[in-house]
Amino acid sequence: MAQPVAFLLVSICLFHSLFSFQEEDYYAPTIESIIRNPETEDGVCVFPFWYRSEIFYDCVNFNLKHKWCSLNKTFQGYWKYCALTDYAPCTFPFWYRRMIYWDCTEDGEVFGKRWCSLTPNYNKDHVWKYCI
Ligand SMILES: *[C@@H]1O[C@H](CO)[C@@H](O)[C@H](O)[C@H]1NC(C)=O
Repeated sequence: MAQPVAFLLVSICLFHSLFSFQEEDYYAPTIESIIRNPETEDGVCVFPFWYRSEIFYDCVNFNLKHKWCSLNKTFQGYWKYCALTDYAPCTFPFWYRRMIYWDCTEDGEVFGKRWCSLTPNYNKDHVWKYCI
């Protein structure tokens, strides 16, 4: 009786440690954590990046007032504040409805402002930004 239980416990521990090893938690920078995890000023943003099972296609501003980005495909505590040149660029060409676009477009924009897709397939990903 005691043996299977012990075996089960050991298995659970092993399983748990394997998983927690892979699933190390990195928290988005906060005002408090920046001292421990400082900005990498000369880093390069990686888009899209994964943070806590969510995918981000551009600079984000949770926790901090100013937008930041991850420097690794999966966020690992390396980050930087976004300057104008760090934001995700338009992706050309991109597919929108039944057309391929090689430039920013006003199509489908209520106010006629030019926009572009941040991935090659707008129909699937729906991530976009206004063109300046
Ligand atoms: C994450 O990005 C930083 C900054 O570019 C780099 O120094 C580090 O080696 C990267 N980590 C991994 C695991 O690739």
